[in-house]
Amino acid sequence: MTILVTGSAGFIGSNFVLDWLADHDETVVSLDKLTYAGNRENLASLDSDARHHFVKGDIGDTRLVSSLLEQHRPRAVLNFAAESHVDRSILGPEDFIQTNVVGTFHLLEAVRAYWGALDEQSKADFRFLHVSTDEVYGTLEVQAPAFTEEHPYQPNSPYSASKAASDHLVRAYHHTYGLPVLTTNCSNNYGPYHFPEKLIPLVIRNALAGEALPIYGDGQQIRDWLYVKDHCSAIRRVLEAGQVGETYNVGGWNEKANLEVVHYICDTLDREAPRADGLSYREQISFVKDRPGHDRRYAIDATRLERELGWRPAETFETGIAKTVRWYLDNQAWVENVASGAYREWLSQQYA
Ligand code: NAD
Ligand code: TYD
Repeated sequence: MTILVTGSAGFIGSNFVLDWLADHDETVVSLDKLTYAGNRENLASLDSDARHHFVKGDIGDTRLVSSLLEQHRPRAVLNFAAESHVDRSILGPEDFIQTNVVGTFHLLEAVRAYWGALDEQSKADFRFLHVSTDEVYGTLEVQAPAFTEEHPYQPNSPYSASKAASDHLVRAYHHTYGLPVLTTNCSNNYGPYHFPEKLIPLVIRNALAGEALPIYGDGQQIRDWLYVKDHCSAIRRVLEAGQVGETYNVGGWNEKANLEVVHYICDTLDREAPRADGLSYREQISFVKDRPGHDRRYAIDATRLERELGWRPAETFETGIAKTVRWYLDNQAWVENVASGAYREWLSQQYA
């Protein structure tokens, strides 16, 4: 048996593939375009593993995807591939439309053709699992109940709008063509291999480098944080037992304001890697101009996943952050490798 995983060299995809092969002997075919966010090094530990085949390529390349499907005959396709950074989508939305909307469409077309030619049993057993985000639901008032799967789609950024479009295409391929799809909508992840342009790895990197810790606006925007390996276990569970055509919200019941998150990371670093001058890393916090259209609050109600599939996260925010900070302290060479010229150019453009 084989699964095809797209976006496997990115943050969540690489954690997923590493965890999968730590637990299963089922072969993984990895497809990744290796954009600035994709890093072959994340999967380097699998280089001599016969259960893993890495292919550099685009989900929008129908000929390539069709030939991979024909050659490897996967029982499931898991789509992690996306442009994923809200701030980049504000500066330049086009790549988001190309990959998240057009790319997902081409991927679905290739998968539909492959699936349509399978025998009846393989057709029934096949799954297309689409990895999506809670940002498709828009923003919440502070007192409002958390997003359920029934919450209307109200995306506010080019990123979330492009993800919403891809979710709708996936849904339509199920209703129109009968493709056996599953969709997960997850809250903000953090953990190993997180590219350091996102809040948590950015703060750890900048703190250790003696640089400013930029907080947008008043820092009171709320996100619902989930340790990446808990997201991966939820995806495995949905793939295994999710009801075809359903969507599942994934979250950690860990709502925190950004400023609280940054304070918590500073305090952890103060203990684990104190500044030479004895002052707290909190001294480096700097309030900067807010993100345009910044969503105030996300919160996930993951009751369906818990009630129907028995999934719960293993980590609390405190245990997850402790592991994450430790990973970044132990892997500073990884951070410096991904912090290439393109990354530095991005930093100077974003925080000018
Ligand atoms: P990421 O940006 O770290 O990784 C995305 C990967 O996709 C990269 O390796 C990149 O090279 C690859 N890619 C981009 N365009 C491609 C294309 N056209 N063809 C093939 N590969 C391509 O993102 P991530 O944080 O790992 O997110 C993975 C998925 O999970 C995304 O779909 C994202 O929307 C979703 N998601 C992320 C979070 C989060 O907090 N990071 C939360 C919920 C959902
Ligand atoms: P981010 O990691 O970009 O995830 P998302 O926008 O998908 O939620 O940002 C998390 C939160 O942190 C978000 O409210 C924006 C905020 N933020 C900052 O305050 N400063 C920063 O430098 C970054 C990158 C994000």
